[in-house]
Amino acid sequence: MPAFSPNDPAFLENPFPFYEMGRAFSPLQIGPPGLWSVFGYDDCSAILKDNATWSSFGRRPEQDVEVAPSMLSSDPPVHTRLRGLVSQAFTPRMVEQLEPRIRVLASELLDEAAAAGATVDLIDALAYPLPVIMIAEILGVPAEDRARFRYWSDEIVSQLGSGIDGQGGRQLDPGMLTEVGEYFGRMVEERRANPRADLITGLAAAEHEGSKLSFPELMQMLVLLLVAGNETTTNLIGNAVQEFIAYPEQLTLLRERPELLPSAIEEVMRHSSPVQATVRVATRDAEVAGKTIPAGDSAVVWLAAANRDPAVFADPAGFDITRNPNRHIGFGMGIHFCLGAPLARLEARIALETFLARSASFARTDQELLPRVPTFIMRGVRRLPLRVEWREPAAVWSTSRGMT
Ligand code: HEM
Repeated sequence: MPAFSPNDPAFLENPFPFYEMGRAFSPLQIGPPGLWSVFGYDDCSAILKDNATWSSFGRRPEQDVEVAPSMLSSDPPVHTRLRGLVSQAFTPRMVEQLEPRIRVLASELLDEAAAAGATVDLIDALAYPLPVIMIAEILGVPAEDRARFRYWSDEIVSQLGSGIDGQGGRQLDPGMLTEVGEYFGRMVEERRANPRADLITGLAAAEHEGSKLSFPELMQMLVLLLVAGNETTTNLIGNAVQEFIAYPEQLTLLRERPELLPSAIEEVMRHSSPVQATVRVATRDAEVAGKTIPAGDSAVVWLAAANRDPAVFADPAGFDITRNPNRHIGFGMGIHFCLGAPLARLEARIALETFLARSASFARTDQELLPRVPTFIMRGVRRLPLRVEWREPAAVWSTSRGMT
């Protein structure tokens, strides 16, 4: 096996050969002691489904005693309570109601981009602002503060998974954490005084009523929603456009048959998974593919490797927007299955639909490697400069549903 340096730029550019080699030896103990990597689809799914054996509460009890876990890093019954408090806000029915607003926003963002000329950084112009403005509106925090959110979530995301290669890891800037706490603390106080129809008001009430949510839990929830609802969807949109450039015949097919867009998005989720991996800790000795992983050891569950397992996907390295069925696990599986999946799918569909309608053609401005999100947990680029041949907005109004 090659050296395991998963945060190395070359690895981030192309981790797929590592997954292919790893699959043959999975589960594989690699990196610091007590850390295993799991690559096969069935083994990854089995771990995610068995949350009694495989805990999401990764921290050792002596660490972070002051900090409450978020739903992502907790097990039942804490997880059940935390998820129950917000799950209503993210059901497919609730999310569908956001469609007209997402459509207006996507059009406005692309109008601005088109007005600025033929070259555009699509991350800056569309893929980043669209999800962050939407989650800010759902939570009820001012979307104007999004430069701050970007800084916070870039910092938090850069630190994800650091330390797993035995290099010690990066610590979050304590000043930033204080700033985040103060910011949301002020918002919560403000909503208690002036309730509105937004998620912060609902969560502030749950905290106020006592037993439902502690203040540190509330802070963790807000940070989780802001970060999870942010970079991941940005990367889905950015990865989709990169796939369309890399596979022009698939783009041609999509332009001919726009009804394939939802299936194309699922194929991006599989082939260029925005979340590449997640981590679990064994609560007891656990058997994976005939090997015993001792209690207390951790497993990196490589979702992106599972998503290219040839036992499940024909021609797994190929990008095929008509793939059906497509049982990728890019949104996870089991009790932690992505809460924001309906929102992410809707935002990606509208963003891409609008971009395809507004552009006659698009291409990279150069062939340089793009700066990547600096963690193996995620796959995405921080900039995506394109040369775009824009189309008049009138074409958009006539082709998109619901905007007559
Ligand atoms: C393409 C975009 C997205 C991808 C690829 C993605 C991926 C994932 C994955 C893989 C998990 C499971 C992690 C694990 O089991 O350890 C997860 C959980 C989660 N996601 Fe997403 N996500 C996306 C968008 C969103 C959005 C828009 C939101 C915001 C509302 C969101 C909120 C969450 C939350 C709150 C959890 C934790 C759920 C739980 O622990 O029960 N995600 N996501």
